[in-house]
Amino acid sequence: MKILVTGGTGYIGSHTCIELLNSRYEVIVVDNLSNSKIEVINKIKTITNKDFKFYEMDLRSEEELRNIFSKEKIDAVIHFAGLKAVGESVQKPLLYYQNNLDSTLTLCKVMNEFKVKKLVFSSSATVYGEQKVLPIKESASLSTTNPYGSTKLFIEYILDDLYKSDNEWSIIKLRYFNPVGAHESGLIGEDPNGIPNNLMPYVSKVAIGELPYLNVFGDDYDTKDGTGVRDYIHVVDLAKGHLKALEYIDKNNDCIAINLGTGTGYSVLDIVKTYEKVNNIKVPYKITKRRDGDIAECYADSTKAKELLNWSSELSLDDMVKSAYNFIIKNKE
Ligand code: NAD
Ligand code: WQD
Repeated sequence: MKILVTGGTGYIGSHTCIELLNSRYEVIVVDNLSNSKIEVINKIKTITNKDFKFYEMDLRSEEELRNIFSKEKIDAVIHFAGLKAVGESVQKPLLYYQNNLDSTLTLCKVMNEFKVKKLVFSSSATVYGEQKVLPIKESASLSTTNPYGSTKLFIEYILDDLYKSDNEWSIIKLRYFNPVGAHESGLIGEDPNGIPNNLMPYVSKVAIGELPYLNVFGDDYDTKDGTGVRDYIHVVDLAKGHLKALEYIDKNNDCIAINLGTGTGYSVLDIVKTYEKVNNIKVPYKITKRRDGDIAECYADSTKAKELLNWSSELSLDDMVKSAYNFIIKNKE
């Protein structure tokens, strides 16, 4: 099967390309490199010892996209491309709505023209907003608290409507929890520009001394140690979930949402302590006030992924923090 991977040089996309190539899928990558680097292409080739085509282009360029679909016989699409920084989306909502919605609409339009109707979409646990009942099932109510989250929810609605209008489509909306860690080679991983917003890349920068200490955002939540609890999932496990999703949409016409999480919640202090223990390194931290918009606790009910996709996570928190540290060590300036 030939798979078009949009956003394939990004963090999750690059790890998924590796799993696809190692499973003998053919891969075509499209990315405008707005949040990733061209070097990733050669790194994927080095890790897999496989070749594939890369098109540097904005997904919103309808003509260019049409050219790709006419040149390549694409069977299915995994759609990662999108902007993802929550804080930036609050400052620049139009940029986020334009980029994330327009690119998805253009993609679906061209897919429709070429009768390619199998799609795996990167959604997010952010569409659940704050939930009282945990673990979170896919049937939970949906709401968002920022423009980034709204783009994910609106795209889910668009895809639902598309399927209702034509049930030859087969679509899986994968709702990722908190992807962390890196490929064991240390060649690819999460490499945000500037000061990281997310916990794991921040902890890594503290571990190598690029930042002096971690700010722990609040220790007065109603959680086991007062700090925020999340469902961290190893990016390699997450990548493998996409292959299972492809197998499902190849056999079924459906439009479904599926959680990709481990089902276990860890607190900020669990992450710090485990990072220190596994990597034998100190991670200094200070407790500061809560971050606006944060929720206390969030973790997945991953039963549906197990039942429908036969997927569940295999890698532990130790594996996550070990691979995150290995990546930062190998990629220090
Ligand atoms: P990323 O930024 O590393 O990768 C996204 C890629 O898309 C980048 O390489 C970027 O250059 C590209 N891109 C953006 N807009 C584009 C456009 N218009 N045309 C072509 N390419 C474009 O992000 P990631 O962490 O790999 O996330 C992948 C997807 O998963 C995103 O849609 C994100 O919203 C979603 N997601 C991520 C997380 C997370 O915590 N990383 C959690 C839930 C969902
Ligand atoms: C995790 C925990 C923080 C940084 C975000 C997006 C979400 C999704 C994944 C895309 C929280 C605490 C963090 C720090 C800290 N992305 N923390 N100090 O907020 O769960 O989710 O990324 O869809 O949409 O909102 O992840 O890694 O930022 O935070 O104490 O410097 O770590 O308060 O409890 P979050 P995160």
